[in-house]
Amino acid sequence: MASARGEFGSRFGFIMAAAGSAVGLGNIWGFPTQAASNGGAAFLLVYLVLAFCLAYPVLMAELIIGRHAHSNAVSALQKIAPGARSRRLGTTTGVVGFITASFILSFYAVIAGWMMAHCLAAAANLLGAPDIAAWLVNMGTTRNILFMALFMGLTVGIINGGVHDGIERWSSRLMPVLLVTMVLLVVYVLTLDGAMEGLKVYLLPDFSAAISPQLIVKALGAAFFSLSLGVGTMLVYGSYVSDKENLPVLGGLVTLIDIGIAVLAGFLVLPAMYVAQHSGVEIFNSAGALISEDTLIFTVLPALFDTMGIAGVVVSFAFFALMSIAALTSSISMLEVPVAYTIESQGWTRHRAVLLIGFAIGVMSLIILLNFDTLFGLVVSVTTRYSQPLLGFMYCLFCGWLWHRDSILQELKNGAPDVESGFFWKIWPGYIRYVCPAVIMIIFLQAIFG
Ligand code: PFF
Repeated sequence: MASARGEFGSRFGFIMAAAGSAVGLGNIWGFPTQAASNGGAAFLLVYLVLAFCLAYPVLMAELIIGRHAHSNAVSALQKIAPGARSRRLGTTTGVVGFITASFILSFYAVIAGWMMAHCLAAAANLLGAPDIAAWLVNMGTTRNILFMALFMGLTVGIINGGVHDGIERWSSRLMPVLLVTMVLLVVYVLTLDGAMEGLKVYLLPDFSAAISPQLIVKALGAAFFSLSLGVGTMLVYGSYVSDKENLPVLGGLVTLIDIGIAVLAGFLVLPAMYVAQHSGVEIFNSAGALISEDTLIFTVLPALFDTMGIAGVVVSFAFFALMSIAALTSSISMLEVPVAYTIESQGWTRHRAVLLIGFAIGVMSLIILLNFDTLFGLVVSVTTRYSQPLLGFMYCLFCGWLWHRDSILQELKNGAPDVESGFFWKIWPGYIRYVCPAVIMIIFLQAIFG
């Protein structure tokens, strides 16, 4: 039954796909720039604690529910709900999840389009076409729409191929390329003058920043976004995992890869900022704070690449290719959430679901692009700061309170017969019942009222 709706062909395939979803712009762009402006190593430390202690347990909740139900998020939550009222809650959670996934994809496609344009600009420079390169790096509306559409087209093309021939094949190809490119870039940047100063900022914590509530809220948002939680992505990927697999180990590996790549990205981006400063590029704004977010990626780093001559063009190409690949393996997982739902609940063919939903999300992206100043920040903060943690809270509720503990154990035992006597089962059930929902709620309320 499971394989009729698609299944990952190998453990490696699943890990690449799930890590591909997790590793994205959030890791390579969001995490290092937030670390840069929030106390460096202090942010890193808080992020690590939250990722392992809060995000991993929620990831496990999604994977277990998904593998148990072998279905999309809405049907899966309905299936494990014990009564009529909790079934309605399951439907709402699943539906809000796929709407959130679609909105995340709509702003993600815009940023990913910029990354692709910058990557091609480097290629154009290499080929001696500076006019084209200048057009590609300019924030024009036509360029933005064109590259958003191109990125959505790639996402749609891969998801159209299905679980094995689309998601698994492309994630298994692209993730190793991403890792190698990143390691090469880190090694190269660390040899440049000024890099050590950036390393210091990254690795020596400023503990006065570590305890600020604002920083904790940001780090939680970053950890949830980074592990693609709450919106049903990991649930859907979990639903394509064979019953023979050991879920706590798979989830642990995905978390480790995700966090590992975010930490590695810090070794690239922070030193690069200080290398840029060393070459005369301004990295502090007028208020004396470190420049971060979009200014960093699209102004500071390109200015750094410019000072490096031909090597800079190659590095720029590699850097933006890395960003585009990371974005693509994440965007396919976002699109799979509504696609799996419509295929299974509405009886649509994959082809039809992918085309219609891909088109609808493309239109949402277009609306965001045309009303950028009002909509972009709003969609980002509603989806990532509020919706994702709240949905994560709902998953804790389902696994900790509504779904029977024995059924969860039975599900885990499929691929891990000894799980009951292991560390995971001693800690996780109490954790997902009490600790995770309480902490998520406290941090969430802090985000609203703090
Ligand atoms: N984890 C991705 C990143 O770090 O960029 C973002 C993401 C992917 C969020 C998939 C949500 C999602 F469903």
